[in-house]
Amino acid sequence: MDHSISTLIDSEFKKDVYQGLTAHPKFLLSKYIYDSQGDRLFQEIMKLPEYYLTNAEFEIFQRSKREICALFEAEDGFDLIELGAGDGKKTKVLLQYLMDNGNNFSYKPIDISENAIQNLESSLKNELPKLDVSAEIGSYFEVLDRLQKSNQRKKVILFLGSNIGNLLHPKAIEFLKGIGGCMNKDDLLFVGFDQKKDPQTILDAYNDPAGVTAAFNKNLLSRINSELGGNFDLDHFKHWEVYDPESGTAKSYLVSTKQQQVIIDELELIVDFEAWESIHTEISQKYDDRTIEWLAEQSGLRIETSFEDSNKLYRNYAFRSTI
Ligand code: AVI
Repeated sequence: MDHSISTLIDSEFKKDVYQGLTAHPKFLLSKYIYDSQGDRLFQEIMKLPEYYLTNAEFEIFQRSKREICALFEAEDGFDLIELGAGDGKKTKVLLQYLMDNGNNFSYKPIDISENAIQNLESSLKNELPKLDVSAEIGSYFEVLDRLQKSNQRKKVILFLGSNIGNLLHPKAIEFLKGIGGCMNKDDLLFVGFDQKKDPQTILDAYNDPAGVTAAFNKNLLSRINSELGGNFDLDHFKHWEVYDPESGTAKSYLVSTKQQQVIIDELELIVDFEAWESIHTEISQKYDDRTIEWLAEQSGLRIETSFEDSNKLYRNYAFRSTI
């Protein structure tokens, strides 16, 4: 990056877009899909019949809430911290059960999306008015680190929805290690992992005929257009999904359907696309038990137990830190 460019790059979003679109092969980071439009499209995805993940985790919570909540309980109560809480639909099953059974706990949802946190807070006020909620907008580690220092109560950390799957293994290990480093001996980490299954089921989940996933993926380009003065023509990019059953990695792409040039004013950048050139946008990792055991071992975590849905599509694991 030369000097004149570096003065233009005054935000992380700009830096990441610049790096991704000047790289070969091109890429964009999936975390940038989630502005208010991206959040809304993800809500739509979760309602799609093909996107089985949400219902599978919901079913696990409904079926096993007694056993799951028994793992959370502690004599002096506990803090239930949810990383990337989103709309909290599944978590509400556990929250309701914990409230009904007179548990002493607080709920602390953390999300980088201000919009998601505001919606969650107001829905909780209506649905569970007696719940002790203190939401935070911000980075997970910052909040966890602060909680570890300030509070000696048991922490139960939730990371649901197979959000872990949006990280490649080395990043997932770094992330889990970071969480483990903020955990005390009795703390619990509860994570949702989408499982390997019929490859067609996975492809269908990320390539719905209604085109919601395509719009979600293309929201990256819409954001560049609206926030960085880009002129991507969304009709000339095609959403494309692949799944490798060996590695368990589903990958999303946007493929340029013709040779074209895109101008991004705020980066003073012209991006050339060959016909059928791709932009890699997201990974959605699928797991098996062996891989999760390996991940835990690499991250300094011990598996306490796990819960599965009736169709064996999805699993929630409870971990403790060994550090
Ligand atoms: C948020 N994350 C776990 C979703 C997933 O399944 O990877 C995002 C998503 N991408 C396309 N559909 C849903």
